[in-house]
Amino acid sequence: MQEEASKALGGGSLGSWYAPNITSDKISGIGNWSQDEIKTYLKSGHIDGLTQAAGGMGEAVEHSFQHLTEADLNALTIYLASTQPVRDPADGNLSRFALGQPVSSADRVRGNQPIRSEDNPDISGAELFTGNCASCHNYQAQGSHDGYYPSLWHNSVTGASNPDNLIATILFGVDRHVAGAQAFMPGFGGKKTDAVQLNDEEIAKLTKYVFDTYGRPQVSVSPAQVATIRHGGSKSPLLVLSRIGMAGGTILIALGCFWFLRTFRK
Ligand code: HEC
Repeated sequence: MQEEASKALGGGSLGSWYAPNITSDKISGIGNWSQDEIKTYLKSGHIDGLTQAAGGMGEAVEHSFQHLTEADLNALTIYLASTQPVRDPADGNLSRFALGQPVSSADRVRGNQPIRSEDNPDISGAELFTGNCASCHNYQAQGSHDGYYPSLWHNSVTGASNPDNLIATILFGVDRHVAGAQAFMPGFGGKKTDAVQLNDEEIAKLTKYVFDTYGRPQVSVSPAQVATIRHGGSKSPLLVLSRIGMAGGTILIALGCFWFLRTFRK
């Protein structure tokens, strides 16, 4: 739980979600965003064709940033532009905002059978996408014209080197209220909506399909990773240590009581 000063604002895991790099680096961070884009993002949680806020960032926008004054927003953008750039070697020289292209998933699902959306061991990633995602994000993942449904290429989540936020978005969805309007995507694993509930294997297959087809194909995804994100993210080693410490302490106290009783009760 120590801060790594050399990686300040360079990104880190926060439970199920990953807080991405927001340094001024032009590849790994947000150094290519204009001041207006940063302000739009903080106020609305959404920039067309670039990025959206879900998880903890969605909550921060909903409950806090949308109410900031113009002067505070300006101060924040000036501060963010002045941060030390941090480059993540896994990004290579490819910014997460510029990866992927439109590809038709409908062409990959042949025949006139009803599209399956779950519950079949040989179901393909294209079929999972067509059955569960294309109705909103469209068959080429190009989104909707007004930007309400974002495109899944040129999207910070599918262009990321870390798969956590794509997995978490599919599991938990998006639910953000800003200025009286709602941005809503159902979760496919959180059991809070009536959308189809996908298991860890299906979500791993679908996530990999989306990275391969529309984003950064180098990213790998396993069912075990999905299970970890589903259950709140990887646990801090400190927590494990503190549990061992507590168990050890309890045993020592019990032994102490035992010794005390044996010695002084005669
Ligand atoms: C009912 C419509 C709907 C369906 C179905 C849907 N989405 Fe979404 N999706 C949305 C909306 C709305 C947003 C949020 C846009 C925003 O935040 O402004 C979104 C956001 C996203 C994001 C960006 C999240 C972020 O944190 O930036 C990704 C990635 C995504 N969806 C992938 C998927 C995938 C994969 C599926 C299929 C399992 C899917 N969506 C199904 C409506 C939908």
